[in-house]
Amino acid sequence: MDTLETAKKIAAYKAVDEYVTPNCVIGIGSGSTVIYAVNRIAEKINENGLNVICVPTSFQARQLIINNHLTLGDLDTHPKLDCVIDGADEVDANMTLIKGGGGCLLQEKIVASCTNQLIIIADHTKNSDRLGQQYKKGIPIEVVPMAYVPIKKNIQDNYGGTVQIRMAIAKAGPVVTDNGNFILDWHFPFEQEKSWNEISNEIKLIPGVIEIGLFVNMAKKVYFGMPDGSVKIQEFE
Ligand code: A5P
Repeated sequence: MDTLETAKKIAAYKAVDEYVTPNCVIGIGSGSTVIYAVNRIAEKINENGLNVICVPTSFQARQLIINNHLTLGDLDTHPKLDCVIDGADEVDANMTLIKGGGGCLLQEKIVASCTNQLIIIADHTKNSDRLGQQYKKGIPIEVVPMAYVPIKKNIQDNYGGTVQIRMAIAKAGPVVTDNGNFILDWHFPFEQEKSWNEISNEIKLIPGVIEIGLFVNMAKKVYFGMPDGSVKIQEFE
């Protein structure tokens, strides 16, 4: 296993070992790091017979839960979650996150809003002082398809940078999310006058914007797998 994959794995295993307890209800995030978390949950259940209910944040997460023979739940039956374990594309010094590199930001934010314990697992390349320092793919914004051009123009005119519609790879045309929407990736200017909280709130008010992949004041703790095999923890006192 290469260093980056090892970093994801050690972060995921540590978070699961500290947060997954008997009879807990967990939100399962999306992306490549979460795969290790689900593997670890499955291992713990097999070893210790824990009773754990898993609420997915995407089609991918649902498949991971089913394929690992974990108990699938949803927000109808479990609107309050003990914790959510999810990845991130970038984490800044204030624990503001960019999420949605895999296009799952809407369900991820809904599920994250149902817990007081959003636990992030990531490799060391996601650990930044400021957003945009390491992650160069922009901030994802999920939008209603008919509104993507005016939204793109609005953001470029009012906040600068460039906005691109995310195109699919193994399909002609745009990426269509699990919710039937498009994704815009905003390559924002590195210098911002407003706070991420203000920017996030304002962009969410643009008609047709469903959700933005900025998670402000949501993460409780971040586990970064480091190149030397240690896990660095970021949290507020
Ligand atoms: C999915 O849309 C994202 O929010 C992921 O959580 C994020 O992209 C991190 O993914 P990796 O664990 O694959 O880096």
